[in-house]
Amino acid sequence: MSEDQVSTCGPGTGELTLDGSVPVVEITGLWTKYGRTVVHQDLNLEIEQGEIMSIVGGSGTGKTTLLRQMLGLEHPARGCVRVFGEDISEIASDQLQQLRNHWGMLFQQGALYSALTVFENIAQPMRELHVLPEDLVHDAVLLKMNMVGLGPEHANKMPSDLSGGMVKRVALARALALEPKLLFLDEPTAGLDPDLSEAFVALIKSLHRELGLTVVMVTHDLDTLFALSTRIAVLAEKHVIALGPLADLLKVDHPFIKEFFLGDRGRRALEALEEKTSTEK
Ligand SMILES: Nc1ncnc2c1ncn2[C@@H]1O[C@H](COP(=O)(O)OP(=O)(O)OP(=O)(O)O)[C@@H](O)[C@H]1O
Ligand SMILES: [Mg+2]
Repeated sequence: MSEDQVSTCGPGTGELTLDGSVPVVEITGLWTKYGRTVVHQDLNLEIEQGEIMSIVGGSGTGKTTLLRQMLGLEHPARGCVRVFGEDISEIASDQLQQLRNHWGMLFQQGALYSALTVFENIAQPMRELHVLPEDLVHDAVLLKMNMVGLGPEHANKMPSDLSGGMVKRVALARALALEPKLLFLDEPTAGLDPDLSEAFVALIKSLHRELGLTVVMVTHDLDTLFALSTRIAVLAEKHVIALGPLADLLKVDHPFIKEFFLGDRGRRALEALEEKTSTEK
């Protein structure tokens, strides 16, 4: 951290807290700056164990940058970002490695290594640990493939031979390779047609339930947002202007929130959600 960057976390315990007794992510008074551009100004956000927290906001409001702060890829100009109780910008490198083993990431771009097979892509995070014997890696990869609905017949395929939906499934299997407690999703359904998107949302929902994951997701897709979110954080004016379950946000009187949730797109997605929940009952 350089001199113009000030972490205000104070000392931690030096140990990751994985039992849910502290928020999985705790952001207080965060400022992010690029030169003179202020992206986040006094931003606060807490993410509790087991929830699916979605982050929404207009283009350029700093959603991806906020994810990057949580991953330790950006540093606060001021403020504090704790993950599993530890200050991510002050963390020792061996602990950062340990932390990385507890989270998985699914990014929109560059999701897979194009020169590696499906099997090799999923095996790669396991092999990097250098502790698992090859036969266990083999079994674990097939297990993860099964978890995301991919049969073993796909193991030797190259990414270029897969459909968009399958690429996402392989990327998800890889994100889950080390059995993370925390999963980051950046636009998980971008580029998928509505049917594939719906199937992928159902998959994330069931994995979230079965594995007890905490999920942090950025999405523009309202159907995905409504189907998955436990709570939604709305980013505007450089900070979180509203936070809560969908039902609470619908009552917030703010021009961006009104347009986002109750504009044409929002209304259509809400109608679809209502239809879906009434047929599920
Ligand atoms: N490395 C960087 N250097 C300078 N400015 C940056 C950098 N990364 C992001 N920014 C700026 O920070 C702001 C927030 O960017 P960010 O990518 O987080 O927005 P976003 O909310 O994810 O937008 P989108 O919805 O379009 O993906 C933008 O104004 C962007 O130009
Ligand atoms: Mg972005």
